[in-house]
Amino acid sequence: MTTLNLIFACANKGVIGMDNQLPWHLPEDLAHFKKLTSAQTVLMGRKTWDSLPKAFKPLPNRLNLVLTRQSDWSAPGAVAVHTLEKACEYHEAHHAKHSQEPLSSAPAIWIIGGAQIYAQSVPLATTVEMTQIDLDVPGDAYAPVLGQEWREIHREEHTSNQGVRFRFLTFKRF
Ligand SMILES: NC(=O)c1ccc[n+]([C@@H]2O[C@H](COP(=O)([O-])OP(=O)(O)OC[C@H]3O[C@@H](n4cnc5c(N)ncnc54)[C@H](OP(=O)(O)O)[C@@H]3O)[C@@H](O)[C@H]2O)c1
Repeated sequence: MTTLNLIFACANKGVIGMDNQLPWHLPEDLAHFKKLTSAQTVLMGRKTWDSLPKAFKPLPNRLNLVLTRQSDWSAPGAVAVHTLEKACEYHEAHHAKHSQEPLSSAPAIWIIGGAQIYAQSVPLATTVEMTQIDLDVPGDAYAPVLGQEWREIHREEHTSNQGVRFRFLTFKRF
């Protein structure tokens, strides 16, 4: 079974988005996101796909899976999937076609948002990569709540070029 990893950035009070956009600009986090997800499969909700800037649609050098209930939805560079199970099946078939490695060594699917998709997939995930940003911003989309089964195993403190404090946290399910 394919492993699922979540990756998100959140401000204070768990805000991850506002008006279908990120309420901050943090190049250091975009670089972190790119480093972790490049050459792998990303799965996002259709609204997150809509929120991507044109220049990053699809996210380059990644298999872009988009979860939607619309049977006729399509977009150049995206693969529409209608369930999480179908996303895993597509990812596994893609791996089998493009890699000599066995399926057991297939990399995880990176769940890259937004709020609806995080909430539905966190019970199935094994790793969460969280960027915690010390900012108060208004929001209408929120990070998933991690229960007691999640333990922080790694922490890196940073300050952005603009003086914003943030940290990269890794959580594993125990
Ligand atoms: N800070 C971060 O790291 C981060 C990362 C990503 C996104 N975001 C933010 O999150 C916000 C968007 O999140 P959101 O919760 O509004 O939307 P979303 O999760 O990106 O997408 C929701 C859409 O996904 C589809 N969907 C949801 N559950 C489904 C299911 N079980 N089966 C099939 N399709 C399903 C539906 O698409 P259809 O309507 O087409 O059926 C639904 O409208 C934005 O503000 C964005 O900027 C933040």
